[in-house]
Amino acid sequence: MKIHVRSTTPFEGQKPGTSGLRKKVHSFQQPRYLENFVQSIFDSLDNFQGKILVVGGDGRYYNQQAIQIILKMAAANGFGKVLVGQNGILSTPAVSAIIRKYQAFGGIILSASHNPGGKDGDFGIKYNISNGGPAPEKLTDAIFAHTKTVKEYRIADTTDVDLAHLGQTQLEDMQVEIIDSVKDYAELMESLFDFPLIRKMFESGACKMRFDAMHAVTGPYAKEILENRLNAGAGTVLNGTPLEDFGQGHPDPNLTYAPELVNLLYHDPELNFGAASDGDGDRNMILGQQFFVTPSDSLAVLAANAHLVSGYSTGLKGVARSMPTSMAVDKVAEKLNISCYETPTGWKFFGNLLDAEKITLCGEESFGTGSNHVREKDGLWAVLFWLNILAVRQLPVAEIVREHWKTFGRNFYTRHDYENIELHGANDLIHHLRDQIKSLPGKQFKHYQVVFSDDFEYTDSIDGSVSKAQGVRVGFSDSSRIVYRLSGTGTEGATLRVYVESFEPDPEKHHLDAQVALHDLIEIADQIAGIKRFTKREQPSVIT
Ligand code: G1P
Ligand code: ZN
Repeated sequence: MKIHVRSTTPFEGQKPGTSGLRKKVHSFQQPRYLENFVQSIFDSLDNFQGKILVVGGDGRYYNQQAIQIILKMAAANGFGKVLVGQNGILSTPAVSAIIRKYQAFGGIILSASHNPGGKDGDFGIKYNISNGGPAPEKLTDAIFAHTKTVKEYRIADTTDVDLAHLGQTQLEDMQVEIIDSVKDYAELMESLFDFPLIRKMFESGACKMRFDAMHAVTGPYAKEILENRLNAGAGTVLNGTPLEDFGQGHPDPNLTYAPELVNLLYHDPELNFGAASDGDGDRNMILGQQFFVTPSDSLAVLAANAHLVSGYSTGLKGVARSMPTSMAVDKVAEKLNISCYETPTGWKFFGNLLDAEKITLCGEESFGTGSNHVREKDGLWAVLFWLNILAVRQLPVAEIVREHWKTFGRNFYTRHDYENIELHGANDLIHHLRDQIKSLPGKQFKHYQVVFSDDFEYTDSIDGSVSKAQGVRVGFSDSSRIVYRLSGTGTEGATLRVYVESFEPDPEKHHLDAQVALHDLIEIADQIAGIKRFTKREQPSVIT
């Protein structure tokens, strides 16, 4: 095989964030930019010669070009075989499932998740390890260190691989297999949930749903699973064709960016279930008729009802949530007498707990829910879990959630995002908060008294690794909290996230709108941090 060893010089700023390296497409299109990063990944790994790599992406602009480069580099670096999704398409949870099923050495996912795509949009690359999950910080740190010193990269001099047709080809000494993007994943779902029961619910007309794939990766998955295998009806899947620019949309399933679906569930009386997923298929939004389930509540409801779902009926080992996620699931864990772990933001922190079988379910407030079936959050999985619960309980979504609040109390919750603010102001705001950590406890704001404040630090109970400065927390005597952190996934300026939560045991007050119930705390959040002053914004850009 003809292998070129090409010299290169480092690019600045190739630091993986919350979920891999994300930059503008233009950055990735610079000669040697992707190559440097991929070589840095390979140089950070040991003993992969002859082993399997899984490669796929969410179909965004530059996906296929990037895959061709990665294939040639994988061949030149000595991988034995690469499994690639047809047309380069694999959802993030599907990559995780495939790595596990075929005992691959690891996988490369091309995605910038929910960030907009297209020529002027974002692109991203992420490495997953052999458990199917995102590389832990130790590895991403090593990759970043390599990007700063990389001098050469290895690439095979060979033609492009036909990604459109299933089957095996040889790329010099390495085998490339183009696999069905959906099949392995659909089979895994079928093994976890009661497909005959869900199908019966659809066929009887008891459930009519819409799934918004947002022109992103889940279109083919949702069509196969919901329309074909579960007979939910043609037209169930909206925006089901993956497009390179996601139809110029913002493929983030929330009340702001999925207005078409929200509108349908609030105005079409025939529909009683709605769901959406993001660019790479790992996020989910759940809607009932005129009802939005917050991701934090969704995790709690899944945990409380897991015994009804065949794949989980033997009981949960434990649960975990990211620190800013509401404490609703903690209440369920308490009742089930299982452990509840609190981790920093980002799915990679769940990996060790899942591998050690300490937890079965986990989730984040940012529309991410998942379980031990893979090592990524999984959008369609969450939708199927809900469908299975609906099929067993035969109650509307809203009723299931209201009943849950009655039993466990309601955790009012909201997240305010200030997107694309000036980096300086954002950093100053965080410094201003850190300066107050010591002096805040004991202070009174309206009828809330601060009882603790810190910058969240996490020690992984399995490998002992410590992650510092994961978000400033301010806790009050009635267990309300405010959390502030800067996003680690943006590609422009900075994004401030403010998370506000309070617990309400009284069912008489459960009907309140979260923004109303949290009104005072939202004001206090600004008072403490000087949000308006530092961000120069009067309003958040997105409220979830
Ligand atoms: C965001 C979410 C986080 C999630 C990540 C990847 O990260 O807040 O929970 O794991 O996207 O989907 P952030 O931008 O806040 O760093
Ligand atoms: Zn995603």
